[in-house]
Amino acid sequence: MSDGATARGSATEREEARKTAEGLEHLSGFGNEHSSEAVPGALPVGRNSPQRAPLGLYAEQLSGSAFTEPRAVNRRSWLYRIRPSAAHPAFTRTGNGALRSAPFTQTVPDPNRLRWNPLPAPAEGTDFLAGLWTLGGNGDVTQRSGMAVHLYHADASMRRVFSDADGELLIVPERGGLLLRTEFGLLHVEPGHTALIPRGVRFRVELLDETARGYVCENYGAPFRLPDLGPIGANGLANARDFRAPVAAYEDVEGPVEVVNKFCGNLWAATYDHSPLDVVAWHGNHVPYAYDLRRFNVMGTISYDHPDPSIFTVLTSPSDSPGLAGVDFVVFAPRWLVGEDTFRPPYFHRNVMSEYMGLIEGAYDAKTAGEGGFVPGGGSLHNMMSAHGPDRETFDRASAAELRPQKIDDGLAFMFETRWPVSLTPQAARAEHLQQGYDDVWQGLERHFRPLR
Ligand SMILES: [Fe+2]
Repeated sequence: MSDGATARGSATEREEARKTAEGLEHLSGFGNEHSSEAVPGALPVGRNSPQRAPLGLYAEQLSGSAFTEPRAVNRRSWLYRIRPSAAHPAFTRTGNGALRSAPFTQTVPDPNRLRWNPLPAPAEGTDFLAGLWTLGGNGDVTQRSGMAVHLYHADASMRRVFSDADGELLIVPERGGLLLRTEFGLLHVEPGHTALIPRGVRFRVELLDETARGYVCENYGAPFRLPDLGPIGANGLANARDFRAPVAAYEDVEGPVEVVNKFCGNLWAATYDHSPLDVVAWHGNHVPYAYDLRRFNVMGTISYDHPDPSIFTVLTSPSDSPGLAGVDFVVFAPRWLVGEDTFRPPYFHRNVMSEYMGLIEGAYDAKTAGEGGFVPGGGSLHNMMSAHGPDRETFDRASAAELRPQKIDDGLAFMFETRWPVSLTPQAARAEHLQQGYDDVWQGLERHFRPLR
């Protein structure tokens, strides 16, 4: 290899990927009927499946919902590609690495509050797919319900292509930029952004920095959508126009390409004789997208009390009960705290929902930062009905603080909050980076009760 190339790829490759990433155009809006063509005239006009598609392309529909689901939630896209997706050899089983799927039945569900340090560095040459490590989850991939929490740590760009039939992938980078080459085109995300790859969409992850680390919510259930806003009105929280979808871009590559498909919990691989990222034009609403979490329009009190953290919901995957999410994606973005006579950090609580929290940067206002605490790249799990809230130091400080307007701008935390308890994988339950003694952060909360006489 030349130019300092290693198993991880060369610095030149990363520079080229970054140049590509930073020059990208995009389409804006959430859930729109987008259309895009990389070559003028590639998109049929007035019909989806003409007798002969333009430019000798094949027409193909990708359904993200059943054909018959109501129009408001129906998702599909039409792809115009060099070869139809059907043109591939048989898939055969390949190793799952550290990727696991629901049902998670190998450990006894744990009611304890748990916290992990960041994933250790991977072996050299680990790409995004090989770097996925499952913490746990719930539901059942064969029932299309529930979710999994994964972390990733990679130091190499993917040469292969991946797709997930089991669910959509919400990627939350914590360290290192990513260039996502998808069937629909290219997306660029950095720490502080999120990207969503819909169920079944093929993609490759290229690294823009030497390493990449972050979190993934694999949502087996209904596709993420923007939450209803109720009395908030027509605007606010994550604004639809801030979501970025790719413009069409295709690879015209003949030659062996490894394609890996996750299906009912296992990885299957096939070697194609061409790149399946060969979509020249497309239209539809089942599309990948990216979003800058710092654009979140944060709502909070301007009088008193800390609102419930559902006010910070970016995306929600509804279940069959109104208001009861299979999983919510919630962000704790920079914001002002102004509540009068109010304990301003998140309150003590027990929740019927289960909460996995991660930290993208800085500190979280209910927990002490620093080594051995809640650190970027780490995570905590507060399962159904576990008692949690501010740690002792935070309680003492916030109870005594002078209540001037205060800007919280030194951190970006998020939560995957799910209606079902999160069961751990054995690797998460026994991980060396599982912190011991997390319970201690609530030790020493003193008795202050003084009954009146
Ligand atoms: Fe909580």
